[in-house]
Amino acid sequence: MPDSYSVMDMGVHDFGGGPEATDLHAGHGSPDAVGAAAGGGTSVADLTAQVDGPADVEVDLVAAEGRVTLPSGREVEGYTLNGSSPGPMIEADQGDLVEVRVRNESVADGMTLHWHGVDVPNAEDGVAGVTQDAIGVGEERTYRFVAEDAGTYWYHSHQVSHEQVIGGLFGTLVVQPAEPDGTDRDVVVATHSYDGFRTLNGLEDDLRFEAEPGETVRVRVVNTDNGSTNVWAGAPYRLLAVDGFDVHEPTEVVGQKVLLAAGGRVDLALEVPDDGSAVRVMMGAGSLVVGPRAADATEVEQPGDVLDLLTYGSQADIGFDPADADRTFDYDIGRRPGFLDGRPGVWWTVNGRMWPDVPMYVVTEGDVVRMRIHNGSGESHPMHLHGHHAVVLSRDGEPATGSPLWVDSLEVEKDETYEIAFLADNPGVWMDHCHNLPHAAEGLVAHLMYDGVTTPYLVGGDAGNEPE
Ligand code: C2O
Ligand code: CU
Repeated sequence: MPDSYSVMDMGVHDFGGGPEATDLHAGHGSPDAVGAAAGGGTSVADLTAQVDGPADVEVDLVAAEGRVTLPSGREVEGYTLNGSSPGPMIEADQGDLVEVRVRNESVADGMTLHWHGVDVPNAEDGVAGVTQDAIGVGEERTYRFVAEDAGTYWYHSHQVSHEQVIGGLFGTLVVQPAEPDGTDRDVVVATHSYDGFRTLNGLEDDLRFEAEPGETVRVRVVNTDNGSTNVWAGAPYRLLAVDGFDVHEPTEVVGQKVLLAAGGRVDLALEVPDDGSAVRVMMGAGSLVVGPRAADATEVEQPGDVLDLLTYGSQADIGFDPADADRTFDYDIGRRPGFLDGRPGVWWTVNGRMWPDVPMYVVTEGDVVRMRIHNGSGESHPMHLHGHHAVVLSRDGEPATGSPLWVDSLEVEKDETYEIAFLADNPGVWMDHCHNLPHAAEGLVAHLMYDGVTTPYLVGGDAGNEPE
């Protein structure tokens, strides 16, 4: 690979059977991406929130690299935001204008902030080399976006993300719904492994959350690790939301666990027992004990049975017709021996080709898009599309019959095939990659771009941009 290049010059344009873009300024093999971007179209840098005035939520963050003392007391090498990892929880009300200013005090490779699962305007997406330059040491940058969708999200660096995220450069983000959700309180739990030590909000012991008998608690679980985890509880629960989006008419779940993809989120609602005891919510890495102070909660064995999200809840309108798609794409994941940037190995492939010859999926704003993700690579991959939520249509040919399942992080296990659909309603250049971040660094990355949008940023370049 050259020292610097535009992602728009990477790979193979795929129009998904729709019209070929008329004004792709940086086509495959274009000699000079910056010149191409200057040639016309909309720059990703101009795709901002377009909202003036003071923000409703203002957050100041300082990013640093070095020795980190976790909330558990353990010291690891890694990264902090405002001196801690996880960084501060950011909380907004639905509709708030959120403004986050981040200064890089000492992250040598530079850093960014990406709002995982929040469908922000492209200029705010925080991907080094695609939507911005990495923020160098001593530099700062302000992100602004409207928190339109209530839900559980998180944020993390998207510069050398396979090191910085697991190293601690992340935090949680909660957007409280405009309408009450029927629960009495909520709690956010990030499950994360530092140096192989599994933590919940940075603690290695049980986490406790105080609630009164009879109260209903919304437990927001965020998987910030590279692998999937399981979540279950010692009491019946309802699964209120997946990847930030509400499940329609969730029913009570007993004796089943939820599979939580890397990067994904699930929100469970459960009731604190009337008898004064507490409930344990288990999540692979440990457990959260919800109930009166010092109340006991028994451990519950992991159920063998997984809740099938494709049949859970009940159907509802999704706002577009996937049967009438404008474009249909394949994202077929494989693996084969070859050379990646000169390094021999067994590398991931997308549609039979290795990075950088991966697809550039091209859409036009307003398109209804279908994508078929097949995983023939022998390992599981949590696939994450930036800037959009997609609805799951089917798995292995079985149509989804439950609540619309809106996802931004979809665990595609080996030999599985999913069909998903989304509305192309957020112009930009968006990553679509595996959120087992070392896999992304090994080339399991593609991009989605809108006709007429270009990026002036380069991977590599003066800022040393390295998104994966
Ligand atoms: Cu959570 Cu492209 O990332
Ligand atoms: Cu993967």
